[in-house]
Amino acid sequence: MRVIMLGPPGSGKGTQGERIASRYGVPHISSGELFRDEVGRQTETGKTLQRYLDAGDLVPDDLVLSLIMDRVIAAQAEGGWVLDGFPRTLPQAEAAAKAAADVGMSAQAVVYLEVPAEVLAERLADRGEGRADDSTQVARHRLEVYTEHTQPLLDYYTQRGIIVRIDSSPPVDEVSAAIFAVLDRIDG
Ligand code: AP5
Repeated sequence: MRVIMLGPPGSGKGTQGERIASRYGVPHISSGELFRDEVGRQTETGKTLQRYLDAGDLVPDDLVLSLIMDRVIAAQAEGGWVLDGFPRTLPQAEAAAKAAADVGMSAQAVVYLEVPAEVLAERLADRGEGRADDSTQVARHRLEVYTEHTQPLLDYYTQRGIIVRIDSSPPVDEVSAAIFAVLDRIDG
């Protein structure tokens, strides 16, 4: 199974991405988690990443690609992947599509999670783990960045006929059931 999670901050990409990965037995690759991990280890790259994450800005495409693409390629040997938070810009989407097509492993579905903006704000404010970028101001900026740079991917993937639109405002289990109902058909 090869799935890309698409949706605004707080829409449930991580929550549902983990569940999809577990159901279909493929690695869950979260760019945000990978970057936070690197920040936590205080490497030179981590220090660079931290500036972008703290501000809620996008990490530059070339740095993202250099950190993620090897993992995507390695996951292909394990049968596929769930990509969560990547691709996030058109250049990232084009680079990922090219690398995947070169080895005949293009994305089978893009799960697009739709949630009203006011629900997103509540979810980020209530998140237990207390991420530094969930403060009201940075969360608002992340949503603006999403709208400007990532929302256009909806058209990109719609044109490729692989968008699966899911209402992600119901409880987590209901959202998962709606996703699995579609992905099971693709997987079967
Ligand atoms: P990233 O970690 O990807 O953050 P994000 O996209 O802003 O998404 P979140 O993790 O906040 O939300 P989510 O959609 O995963 O929802 P979640 O399941 O956590 O990126 C962080 C930063 O890294 C970016 O700002 C950027 O700086 C950088 N970055 C990452 N990738 C990049 C890239 N490719 N290019 C450039 N820069 C990049 O759920 C949120 C909360 O809601 C949780 O508490 C959860 O329990 C709850 N929840 C989820 N679903 C439900 C539900 N159905 N009902 C009730 N509560 C729910």
